[in-house]
Amino acid sequence: MTTLTLCPFDELVDGEARRFDIDGHRFAVARIGEQVFCIDDRCSHEDFSLSEGEVLVDECEIECARHGATFDLKTGLPQSLPATTGVATYLVTVNDNEVQVELP
Ligand code: FES
Repeated sequence: MTTLTLCPFDELVDGEARRFDIDGHRFAVARIGEQVFCIDDRCSHEDFSLSEGEVLVDECEIECARHGATFDLKTGLPQSLPATTGVATYLVTVNDNEVQVELP
């Protein structure tokens, strides 16, 4: 298992997503309140950057800005068409204000 440090927690804007390119990985990281979620930043429909989409705070989902598919931020599973397959999710921890993601 590999741990990558993304950024200080307080650099993440509540209710928004941000893209991180680290060590050949592309992550979409979304903050909702005190929780942080990390998924692959590639929509399973047509490989669009999910971090450009809107975070649906009440549903804990992110909406692809290209065609509107939504994904559960906890599971990566698609919640609406046109996406029919999920995206990978990663465990996020916050240690001493640093947001870290665990890679299997
Ligand atoms: S590229 Fe994301 S819904 Fe089509």
